[in-house]
Amino acid sequence: MQRPERINDKQFVIGMENKIVIITGANSGIGKAAALRFASEGYRVIMACRNMEISKVVQIQITELSNNYNVDLMELDVSSFDSIRKFCSEFKAKYPHLDILIHNAAYLNYGEKEYKLSAEHIELSFATNTFGPFLLNNLLADHLEKSQDPRILNACTTNIKNFFDPGRQIEFDNLRGEFRNTRRYNVYKMYGDSKMALLILTFKMAEEFKSREIKVNALQINRVKLSKETIKKLSSFWKVLAWAQNFTNPLPSGMADNYFHICTSNEFSNVTGQLINHKREIVQPSTKEKGIAQLKNIFGSSNYPKYASDSQNAEKIWNLSTELTNE
Ligand SMILES: NC(=O)c1ccc[n+]([C@@H]2O[C@H](COP(=O)([O-])OP(=O)(O)OC[C@H]3O[C@@H](n4cnc5c(N)ncnc54)[C@H](OP(=O)(O)O)[C@@H]3O)[C@@H](O)[C@H]2O)c1
Repeated sequence: MQRPERINDKQFVIGMENKIVIITGANSGIGKAAALRFASEGYRVIMACRNMEISKVVQIQITELSNNYNVDLMELDVSSFDSIRKFCSEFKAKYPHLDILIHNAAYLNYGEKEYKLSAEHIELSFATNTFGPFLLNNLLADHLEKSQDPRILNACTTNIKNFFDPGRQIEFDNLRGEFRNTRRYNVYKMYGDSKMALLILTFKMAEEFKSREIKVNALQINRVKLSKETIKKLSSFWKVLAWAQNFTNPLPSGMADNYFHICTSNEFSNVTGQLINHKREIVQPSTKEKGIAQLKNIFGSSNYPKYASDSQNAEKIWNLSTELTNE
């Protein structure tokens, strides 16, 4: 890879401007740090964001800090299939190919008590964190295929460790508001379910895309400082908790380095269908979920729950994703 030269502490960009990366939710947190990292390395960065007013300011910041004028801002609400279709057709009209697609945007509204539906009447965590990325992948696959080295990365979470509990299941029967008024809604459970579904889709999509040479992986993000923007949206109780946790949690830039490394390095050029942890190690399916082995599963970052590699779960989530995004 041709490296950018440094001039007056800013990076002067050469060579990588034809490498195109889309980052969803690039206006705050890890997504913003990743947009800055890719822009500083000279990539053509598409910030795919829903709030254009806030994101415009961030786009200007990233352009100035990286000295890269190939930072584009395009409107995308990942929870809305209409918005995804519009975004993809505009992107394809504007750009000849796509090299890297990073599904970073996510819905997790801390302390939310109300079950919310997306524009297409799908539970909001699933619409944003699972089915939106599925549709984006399918609509952008032909553009990814035109790249020399196409890579997709899904932002996953350690929250999926809850599936080491043998009783834990994805709430498949409640994804279209079926029990929204009668069943207790837990935003963390739904978030974890939607990210588990995303992980299952990572494995399945990697298989489906193998013949097209598109690599699909997921990053297991453990903990990162919450951004000021995200904390601003919280109720006072959660604000205090978030500030307290932020004392010890690492900066988003470290995780953004992981995004960059997994999507660009030779080390990961032939890796597909894997969950990768924050130390850039491949996470393995657990073989034992009892006793000491289970304690290691829960407190370590080397294993993911068997639930994620269950073929019936894969079939179910794949068929549901296909059905909903084709409706
Ligand atoms: N931070 C952590 O400790 C942690 C831990 C585990 C996993 N993760 C994962 O890492 C990723 C980034 O997390 P973060 O902490 O950096 O998050 P963040 O600062 O809260 O940023 C989330 C981004 O997603 C965007 N977004 C949400 N819904 C969207 C939608 N429907 N359409 C388009 N954009 C949307 C937000 O945009 P708005 O500004 O418009 O809301 C925001 O830019 C997420 O996938 C998260 O699940 C984070």
